[in-house]
Amino acid sequence: MSKEHLIIFDTTLRDGEQSPGASMTRDEKVRIARALEKMRVDIIEAGFPIASPGDFEAVKAVAEAVTDSTVCGLARALDKDIERAGEALKPARSARIHTFLATSPIHMREKLRMTPDEVVENAVKAVKKARQFTDDVEFSPEDAGRSEVDFLCRVIERVIDAGASTINIPDTVGYNIPHQFGQLIRTLIERIPNADKAIFSVHCHNDLGLAVANSLAAVRNGARQVECTINGLGERAGNAALEEVVMAVRTRQDVFDCDTRLDTTQIVPCSRLVSSITGFPVQPNKAIVGANAFAHESGIHQDGVLKSRETYEIMRAEDVGWSENHIVLGKHSGRNALRARFRDLGIEFDSEEALNEVFIRFKELADRKHEIYDEDLQALVSATASDAEERYKLVYLSVTSETGEKPLARVTLNVDGEEHSSEAIGGGPVDAAYKAIEEIIGSDSELKLYSVNNITSGTDAQGEVTVRLEKEGRIVNGQGADTDIVIASAKAYLNALNKLAAPALTPHPQHGSV
Ligand code: KIV
Ligand code: ZN
Repeated sequence: MSKEHLIIFDTTLRDGEQSPGASMTRDEKVRIARALEKMRVDIIEAGFPIASPGDFEAVKAVAEAVTDSTVCGLARALDKDIERAGEALKPARSARIHTFLATSPIHMREKLRMTPDEVVENAVKAVKKARQFTDDVEFSPEDAGRSEVDFLCRVIERVIDAGASTINIPDTVGYNIPHQFGQLIRTLIERIPNADKAIFSVHCHNDLGLAVANSLAAVRNGARQVECTINGLGERAGNAALEEVVMAVRTRQDVFDCDTRLDTTQIVPCSRLVSSITGFPVQPNKAIVGANAFAHESGIHQDGVLKSRETYEIMRAEDVGWSENHIVLGKHSGRNALRARFRDLGIEFDSEEALNEVFIRFKELADRKHEIYDEDLQALVSATASDAEERYKLVYLSVTSETGEKPLARVTLNVDGEEHSSEAIGGGPVDAAYKAIEEIIGSDSELKLYSVNNITSGTDAQGEVTVRLEKEGRIVNGQGADTDIVIASAKAYLNALNKLAAPALTPHPQHGSV
């Protein structure tokens, strides 16, 4: 018997971007969208076009770049939002507008200041408006997880009549428990008279660590679309992690009567790409994509796996994209070989110039590190892509550090085309470098996080540094990679400062006005 199709709706580029510090540029969104398309995600929610001109351009660019997945734009239940989403999605081969309005008593009373009747009326109006731009309209009763079931049934019946073909049930605040959320989906599907005219979807937040469990309970009770993000990125504690939902359904086909169309071998590359672009590292023990997810430490386990893999493994590492590290190329390799390897990694260059720039960096890296892996190449592309918008550039950095002495950093930066130099002493080499940079820039920002991870193994590995800075309530992440940790740290710091210098980030779609 053939299984029903479970639609995967990825919202890494929209809800994922709502993680503080995870904002992405247009080009970064396009790169992630291409990776999602390659993984055969059904729908890519690319952003919230009314939020800012940058978000509008990003949704439009994704709509232009992607052909195999449907591209979706978010809109509040307001004409101006829906018109903007419709405009941004014009180039899409297949476009969806996702409009939402809160239905829980607390949201209607405190946030919207609308009566339930007004909410029904506005929801219907929004769906009809969205249908002027596309036949593919999704409606979300925001905070459905805390809404009254009778009222949900009433709103949903009306929006389906108005033309919504997907009804998404969000557990906006991550309050639900699996058996209860599953029952909610079942009740809605059973009680709403026109439920058969729409696909029921779920969108679960992870405040209680239950986003994936709630999503799966919903699928067991009739939901046929799951909204999720790569690495579980998203507002507050995040959304349901795509890789966990997809692999749970794929691995436990004895329990689920549906399956996705995903090419799961793209999961790990996609996870790495999102982590490297957003600067959100993946914890080692994270299911599916964590570095330890398939590592066996105890002797008993190792022995078991050597005798028969299934003794301790329920999935094959290669099925989710873990592969032996590829030693790509050495310093004698040419541009064509590099281009071919990038193509295998799903990375295409828009121009010969872009490839040339990465090639120069590749040669520089190959001089310092004789074995170059796929992860190194991904970091090279991230660094080159972010250079395009840099106001501050690192020209020179030297740090002298010796036993019993405080390290001294000398730094030269290019700021808006002009070179400035300074020096500073610090508690350690990174501290000294950051102080010297601040002597020049004086950013007035606060360092909230500093972390270093090795991209590959070995003492000549590149270190990838992530810093998080906060200024006047705005949080940004910066990243830098280099075989020299202090240089990687300076690059990460400047990357974050460049983001702070760029126009304000996407405002939050569910709060305040845009
Ligand atoms: O969490 C939420 O309710 C949302 C909606 C916009 C679907 O992100
Ligand atoms: Zn959400």
